[in-house]
Amino acid sequence: MQCATSLWEKTLNAELNDKCVLITGASGGIGLAVAEALAAERAKLVLHYHTQAEPVRELQQRIAVPNVAVPADLRDERQVERMFAEALSAFPRIDVLVVNAGIFRSESVPLHEMTAAQWRETLDADLNSAFLTCRGFLRHLADDPRESAAIVLVGSTAGLFGEAGHADYAAAKAAMVYGLTLSLKNEIVRLAPRGRVNCVCPGWTRTPMAADGLSDPALMLRVQATMALQKVAEPRDVAAAIVFLASERLSGHISGAVLPIAGGMEGRLLHPDAP
Ligand SMILES: NC(=O)c1ccc[n+]([C@@H]2O[C@H](COP(=O)([O-])OP(=O)(O)OC[C@H]3O[C@@H](n4cnc5c(N)ncnc54)[C@H](OP(=O)(O)O)[C@@H]3O)[C@@H](O)[C@H]2O)c1
Repeated sequence: MQCATSLWEKTLNAELNDKCVLITGASGGIGLAVAEALAAERAKLVLHYHTQAEPVRELQQRIAVPNVAVPADLRDERQVERMFAEALSAFPRIDVLVVNAGIFRSESVPLHEMTAAQWRETLDADLNSAFLTCRGFLRHLADDPRESAAIVLVGSTAGLFGEAGHADYAAAKAAMVYGLTLSLKNEIVRLAPRGRVNCVCPGWTRTPMAADGLSDPALMLRVQATMALQKVAEPRDVAAAIVFLASERLSGHISGAVLPIAGGMEGRLLHPDAP
C-alpha cells in the first residue's frame, strides 16, 4: 500500500496534538490515510487492525507520534472490550473515535437472490461492529467524563442513495449515517457537553475494497456520469474530511453532520442506455 506522507507535510493546524485518536480498520486504504493525516497533526494514535498486521507495522515505522497497534475482530463483543482495555493501558484517555472498519462485497447480488447468511455477515461486519465500537467509546466517556470528545463515522454514498445489488451494505451504512449519527450526537453531550458525532460518506475511493469496481471501465463510466467532478476519491480526500471533523478547533460547532465525499455525486445512473 503506497502512502503519500508528503501530502501531509503541511498540517491543517487542527490542534489535535494533545489528543488521542482510535482509528478502526487502520490497516485498510482509508484507515492508513487517516492515520498518516492525524500523525502529521501530532495526534497520539491507537491503530486498530483485524487480520493484517503488516500495513500497520509499516505505518508505525513511518510515523513519529506515540502510537499503539491493537488487533480485534470488531464483530466480537469481547474483542472490542479488549481493544479498549489495551488502548487505555497505553494512553490514559481516548478523545476521538474514527469508526472506519468495514466490508464491501464486490459481487452484485439482488435482494431476491441474497442469502440470509450474507445479509447477517454484512450487518455484523459493518453495523454491529460500529455499535460495539461506539458503545465502547461512550462507556469510556461515561467512566471518564470530560468537556469534549468526537466520533467520526465512515458511512458511504450507498447509505445516501442506496445501491442496487448491495442492499445489505446500503442498509448497514444508512443505519450508520442516519440512525447512529443522529442519535449519538444527542447522547454524547450527556457524557461530554461539547462532544460531537459526525459522519463522512465517501463515494468510490481508490482502496483495496474498491479494487474490483475500479477495474471495471463500464461501471466507472456509469458512476462518474452522476458526479460533477467525474473522478474517484483518493484516500487522502476522505482523511482530510475526517481530520476536520475530529478537530474541535476546525469543526467545534458541527455535530450530526453527514458529509458526502463524492465529487458532487447526485445519485445513480439507472438507465444508461435509455433513448
Ligand atoms: N473504498 C471505497 O470506495 C469506499 C466507499 C465508501 C465507503 N467506504 C468505507 O470506508 C471504510 C474503509 O474502507 P476502505 O476502502 O479503506 O477498505 P479496506 O482497505 O478494505 O479497509 C477495511 C478495513 O476494515 C477492517 N475490517 C473489516 N472487517 C473487520 C472486522 N470484522 N473487524 C475488524 N476490522 C475489520 C479491515 O481489516 P481486515 O482486512 O484485516 O479484515 C480493514 O482494515 C469502510 O467502512 C468502507 O465501507 C469505502
